[in-house]
Amino acid sequence: MSTNQNNLPAIISHCKEYGFIFPSSEIYDGLSAVYDYGQWGVELKKNIKDLWWKSMVYMHENIVGIDSAIFMHPTIWKASGHVDNFSDPMIDNLDSKKRYRVDHLIEGFVENLDAEKGAQIIADMELLLAKDDFDGLKNMIVNLGIKCSVSNTCNWTNVRQFNLMFSTQLGSVAEESDTIYLRPETAQGIFVNFLNVQKTGRMKIPFGIAQIGKAFRNEIVARGFIFRMREFEQMEMQFFVRPGTQKEWYEHWKETRMKWHLALGIPQEKYRFHDHVKLAHYADAACDIEYDFPMGFKEVEGIHSRTDFDLTQHQLYSKKKMQYFDNDIDEATGKAFGNYIPYVIETSIGLDRTILMVLSEAYTEEDLSTAEKQDSRVVLKFPIKIAPIKLAILPLMKKDGLAEIAKELMQSCSEHFFCFYEEKDSIGKRYRRMDALGTPFCVTIDHQTKEDGTVTIRYRNSMEQERIHMNDVKELVMKSMH
Ligand code: GAP
Repeated sequence: MSTNQNNLPAIISHCKEYGFIFPSSEIYDGLSAVYDYGQWGVELKKNIKDLWWKSMVYMHENIVGIDSAIFMHPTIWKASGHVDNFSDPMIDNLDSKKRYRVDHLIEGFVENLDAEKGAQIIADMELLLAKDDFDGLKNMIVNLGIKCSVSNTCNWTNVRQFNLMFSTQLGSVAEESDTIYLRPETAQGIFVNFLNVQKTGRMKIPFGIAQIGKAFRNEIVARGFIFRMREFEQMEMQFFVRPGTQKEWYEHWKETRMKWHLALGIPQEKYRFHDHVKLAHYADAACDIEYDFPMGFKEVEGIHSRTDFDLTQHQLYSKKKMQYFDNDIDEATGKAFGNYIPYVIETSIGLDRTILMVLSEAYTEEDLSTAEKQDSRVVLKFPIKIAPIKLAILPLMKKDGLAEIAKELMQSCSEHFFCFYEEKDSIGKRYRRMDALGTPFCVTIDHQTKEDGTVTIRYRNSMEQERIHMNDVKELVMKSMH
């Protein structure tokens, strides 16, 4: 029997206990909403990055990748609108001095209401947010009697905007002109390199530029483990298209990205699209792909039709042309499309949120009790392609030459996929440990291996075991990784 209800606290402690994710600076009592990836977390993260990169870059002839710097010229953030617009409506409780993001405060309140009433409140809130109606939002909070979780009072300030960008100083003299920002999205690094890549890569529209990298946001209410962090990673792709074709490309990328999510083995009913009511300052259409996290349906990826906003703004602020010359013939006029600033469809997925999604999906507590004895296990049922360890090689004992055979197998497999070698503890204990790390295959080398070259292979999900020849192990694991 497996249980997969709201198990976020169990997932958090499992991640810490088994070396996936640690609170940052833990020996100094941690740093709020900042996390470190441990030895298995980093493998999981790398596998997800590779999967995304392969599907976006390698599988598309017209998409290439870049890696732009985190520090960028400060005018970029003025041009992109982040200095003036990248803010969230906040409200402070005057008694506790605690600050809340208005939407989070209302969403938290709604969690305890019945679904229909809650949905109506959220719909009303989204309308108020879309109109930037701050008085309306404050009235809503007051009328609903929403209390601060610390002071338990309704003594609220007015609703105000709060910019989410972190700033720092470039150089040794702290003058205002030296203020630079930690990028709040990786996308701008792509926009400002648009022509560099287009020209050097001889790219023809439509084409895309992909990037994986860190982003930073001074989130006021950072919560939900690695769901909302202050330092996180994004996997973004900007797809440059001819003006007027953006709607069909928007639909195309919605469908393509949903297919990617489903290919993780997560069922359709765990996902849904959520169309934005309040569009970001750069978008003419936008939606989220939401996943049913332990704390409910929440955004894991955004798909945005960003128009020509960013490139136009960079042309304006940098005074450098951001145009593309399209020599394809427009059937309507019989002439080349000529010069224009491309429109952009963006796909933007949070790497850490994807990790939380696959952890939530994989984390399973199983009761294995029989009439004779009580037993249970925690198993991470990752898709094989993203499992941190693919194969555990376990000699029954160190002596009698079993360790040597195991090391030989380890050597022949390690160049193809990540293997783990373990000779301590009973086999049963070692299997359980590998279940907890999500290792799909364990092979045990025993005395029979010495006689006929066979090993016992044990399958993580079914816990079934069979004997196969050790020469077939590598092939079996490699086939299962696709
Ligand atoms: N370039 C567009 C952009 O940044 P976004 O919807 O603000 O759009 C994209 O962010 C994705 O980045 C989100 O869907 C989410 O997965 C991830 N993300 C955003 N803020 C985050 C945070 N504070 N912690 C973790 N992931 C975050």
